[in-house]
Amino acid sequence: MNLSKIIFAIALVGMFYSCKENKATEKMDAGKRTALTPMGHAEEQLTLLLKEAEKANRIPRTIDVDGNVHWTKEGFDWTEGFFPGSLWYLFEYTEDEKWRLAAERFQTLFEDHKNYTSYHDLGFVFNCSYGNGYRLTKNEAFKDIMITAGDSLMTRFDPTVGCIKSWDVDKGWQSERNWRFPVIIDNMMNLEMLFELSELTGNQKYKETAILHANTTLRNHFREDNSSYHVVDYDPNTGKVRSKQTAQGFADESSWARGQAWGLYGYTVCYRYTKDQKYLEQAQKIADYMIHFKDTPNDGIPYWDYNADKIPNEPRDVSAAAITVSALIELDGYSAVAYRSAVDKILSSLASDQYTAKIGENKNFILKHSVGSIPHGAEIDVPLNYADYYYLEALMKYQKAYSKPN
Ligand code: GLY
Repeated sequence: MNLSKIIFAIALVGMFYSCKENKATEKMDAGKRTALTPMGHAEEQLTLLLKEAEKANRIPRTIDVDGNVHWTKEGFDWTEGFFPGSLWYLFEYTEDEKWRLAAERFQTLFEDHKNYTSYHDLGFVFNCSYGNGYRLTKNEAFKDIMITAGDSLMTRFDPTVGCIKSWDVDKGWQSERNWRFPVIIDNMMNLEMLFELSELTGNQKYKETAILHANTTLRNHFREDNSSYHVVDYDPNTGKVRSKQTAQGFADESSWARGQAWGLYGYTVCYRYTKDQKYLEQAQKIADYMIHFKDTPNDGIPYWDYNADKIPNEPRDVSAAAITVSALIELDGYSAVAYRSAVDKILSSLASDQYTAKIGENKNFILKHSVGSIPHGAEIDVPLNYADYYYLEALMKYQKAYSKPN
C-alpha cells in the first residue's frame, strides 16, 4: 500500500469515529460541508436520486445508453430491492425518518412480487429491502412479507438436485441454452433470507434448504484454484451435473468477477448462520483467490472477468468490488488471517474520485464503472443500484467492525 492509500485508510477510520460522535452536528451543517465523509457524500447524492425516483415513482437501476436513468422493470426485476435497501442504510446511519418513509414507499412498489415463483432472486429482492426494514424497525408486517417471499423461493428447491433452481428454461434467452435445471453461483445470495427466516420463525425448514443448496454448490461449482463456474446445469431426474458454463462471464472456464464475489459473500453468510468450518474455509479460499489474483490492478478493483482476454483494456466491475469488500469485512471478523489491508485498499479506492461520482453527476448514483453483462451487451461501464447498495453496506459494516468501542 503506498503512502497516500495508508493516509486515506487512516482518514476513513477517523471519519467514521467523528461521524459517530458528530452525527447531529454533521446533519445541521450539511449545507456548509466542503469535505464530506463517504456516508455524508452518499446521503447528499441519494437525496438527489430520491427526488428523481419520487417524481417518476419508479426504482432507479442504472443509466441507459442515452444517459438517462433506467428504472427497474414493471414486472419482477432482480435489482428492485437494492434502492430501498440503500435508503434503509441511510435511515440506519442518519436516524432521519425521511429515509425510513422513502424506503417503505419504494419497497411497497414490489410487495406483491412476494408470491412470484418463476425466478430465484426473491432473497435479493426481499432481504435487502424488507429484511433491512425489519432489522431496523421490527415491523411485523415486513416479517410476514419475508416469510411469504421465502416460501415462494422454497418452491424452487428440488430434493433430487439438492438446489434451488435459478432460472426457468422455457422462456427468454435461457430457453436457448439447452439447460434443464440451471443453478448460478449468484443463487448463494438468496440463502441469507432463508437462514434469517429460520431465526425469525423458529422453523428450521428454511435453514435446512439453504444448507442443502450450499453443500451441492460447494461440491459442483468450484475449480481446483477455488474460482467458480457461473452456471452448473443439473439433470432434474438424476441430480447429476449436465454441464458447467457461463452466462455473464467471458468464457465457460473463466472467472466472472461478480460471480466470485457472490460466492465469497454467500459462504461468509453460511458461516455466520451455521458456524460450519467448511463454509468458513471456502470463503477464505475464495478470498485468497481474489486478493492474490495477479492481473487485478493495485487499487483492488477487478476487471469484469478475471480472465477476460484484453486485460488491461477491459472494463472494471465496481459492483464486484463493492460486494467483495462488504463480505471481506465480515470474513475478517471470523478469521485468524487478516483481510483488513484488502478491505482498506478496496474501500478507499471505491471512495476515491476515480469510482465515486461528484455530487449531482452520474445521474445521482454513487459509484461509477460497473458492468451488468458484457455477453448480453447490457450495462457496460455504468452505475448500478447494487454497487451502491453493497458499498453503503460495506461502509456501515466498516464502522461497526473497526470503530473504537464507546
Ligand atoms: N444475477 C445477478 C447478477 O447479474 O449478478
